[in-house]
Amino acid sequence: MTALPDFPWDRLVPFKKQAAAHPGGIVDLSVGTPVDPVPAVVRQALADASDSPGYPLTYGTERLRSAAAGWLRRRHGVLLDQANVLPLIGSKEFVAWLPTLLGVRPGERVIFPELAYPTYDVGARLAHAEPYATDGLLALGPERVPLVWVNSPSNPTGRVLPAEHLRKVVAWARERGAVVASDECYIELGWEETPISILHPDVCGGSHEGLIAVHSLSKRSNLAGYRAGFAAGDPALIARLLEVRKHAGMIVPAPVQAAMTAALDDDEHAEEQRVRYAARRAALRPALEKAGWKIEHSTAGLYLWASDGRACWDQVRALAERGILVAPGDFYGTAGERHVRIAMTAGDERISAAVRRLQ
Ligand SMILES: Cc1ncc(COP(=O)(O)O)c(C=O)c1O
Repeated sequence: MTALPDFPWDRLVPFKKQAAAHPGGIVDLSVGTPVDPVPAVVRQALADASDSPGYPLTYGTERLRSAAAGWLRRRHGVLLDQANVLPLIGSKEFVAWLPTLLGVRPGERVIFPELAYPTYDVGARLAHAEPYATDGLLALGPERVPLVWVNSPSNPTGRVLPAEHLRKVVAWARERGAVVASDECYIELGWEETPISILHPDVCGGSHEGLIAVHSLSKRSNLAGYRAGFAAGDPALIARLLEVRKHAGMIVPAPVQAAMTAALDDDEHAEEQRVRYAARRAALRPALEKAGWKIEHSTAGLYLWASDGRACWDQVRALAERGILVAPGDFYGTAGERHVRIAMTAGDERISAAVRRLQ
């Protein structure tokens, strides 16, 4: 059996109970799960495709791949043929299985950021590889590295990696034949900075060789419940991944493919959602600052990365006493042990309640 870390959220349960005991009810800003409605245009597409008796294609419909390529071009300046898109059953399964699907060998290092979404580590373990958290690629020795993850905007910190930084990662990886997987699931949520894709010509020089961008509709389109994402990039890598995923039955349901197509074709609902998050951020951020928390990074994405200087679990307790549940920074790496991650995923009424309680 593969040794997996304890599921971290279980450790938060006592604080969830404490927050729930607040007379005004819990304000849950711990898990980044969407709470706003699924856009009507997407629900309609799902309903219209509900009579889907046959097996869908693992590769997805050409309409879906074209919608994904069109969105990348229109919104992110990425030029990509629709053939180089691969639908995912949400991006988490891909993060967890990519090292295995790529044939990373036992003992090889899979690199990911020091503060990171825990599933990069899990994916390395599932492949019996060595999870290796570092922000300093240049300090790594000459050994072969099969896979490097980057995540901009970052979960948990909301930090954006500028084009120059990403260019260096790409150059480093290409020198060694490493694959760069760029988790871009928060790319549409730029606030003070505009995130750039690894597939943008300013980063990759126009060639997608060795590069895979990972996208999710969970946050942009409130589709976490549908499980909807896609990978895009290097034609050879996409073809290889498609082959394995066909054999393994990693297929996005046909109605979800139709829903994703509608979501990717439409920018209006995404803009509405952005405006909601922007308003919540504008309310929460100053309230936290006035209450003694310093916000770091957080120029993009769905979270505020905050610290009042104490150990993260003391901060979790202090906020739970006010009925506000947040995630401790050490869920994301030891470098986070003096921070908490505050998700902007609660309805407006709950965010207002949190702001009042922080006063
Ligand atoms: C950095 C990062 N990657 C991937 C995911 C997975 O998203 P999904 O599986 O909903 O596409 C998340 C979810 O919060 C995330 O924070």
